[in-house]
Amino acid sequence: MFTPKSIAIVALLVCTGAAQADGPRLGKAVSAEELTLWDSSVMPDGSGLPAGSGTAAQGAQIYAQKCTACHGEKGVGGSASALITRGPITSINGGEKTIGNFWPYASTLFDYIRRAMPWQQPKSLSNDEVYALTAYLLALNKVVDEGAVLDATAMKQIKMPNRDGFILRFPDRI
Ligand code: HEC
Repeated sequence: MFTPKSIAIVALLVCTGAAQADGPRLGKAVSAEELTLWDSSVMPDGSGLPAGSGTAAQGAQIYAQKCTACHGEKGVGGSASALITRGPITSINGGEKTIGNFWPYASTLFDYIRRAMPWQQPKSLSNDEVYALTAYLLALNKVVDEGAVLDATAMKQIKMPNRDGFILRFPDRI
């Protein structure tokens, strides 16, 4: 005997069967090309740095167009944090920690800019532009010469001023 309840159960089973045949619909496979956009980590030892290069002079031009609005001219005086170091860290104030006196690796500066900046349009810079911006900011911080050309090899040779300023909390775990 078909009651409304049994008809509903049969209808439900039919529908569920159809849905299962289509799969769970959780998305689609990621192509290798799409994955490269996200698989972009650059490590402290420089592994993961891409091909490309840039100079501080090129970086100055890109900076003027894409960064000055928030970080100020030449890296100071904007609404976002200063990118130029004025002196040693003397207090717990986070604003005192900048590229020259805090960041231990140049390669992670590259990673940060490429991944997150400009703030309103992350991942919009080419690798050459990121090398140029990194060169410009490191030159302003007097870490590299104004005429330096940065690429993966040159980046790996940079020793940041604060490289040895971090204390490992669990050195035995390395
Ligand atoms: C719309 C505003 C905006 C623009 C444009 C912008 N930034 Fe930023 N930037 C920020 C904010 C906000 C932060 C994170 C918070 C902070 O440190 O003030 C930040 C952080 C940074 C930091 C890390 C600073 C530190 O020592 O922690 C770097 C490096 C940086 N930006 C570089 C750039 C570069 C290079 C450009 C241009 C390509 C750029 N930013 C454009 C807003 C901006």
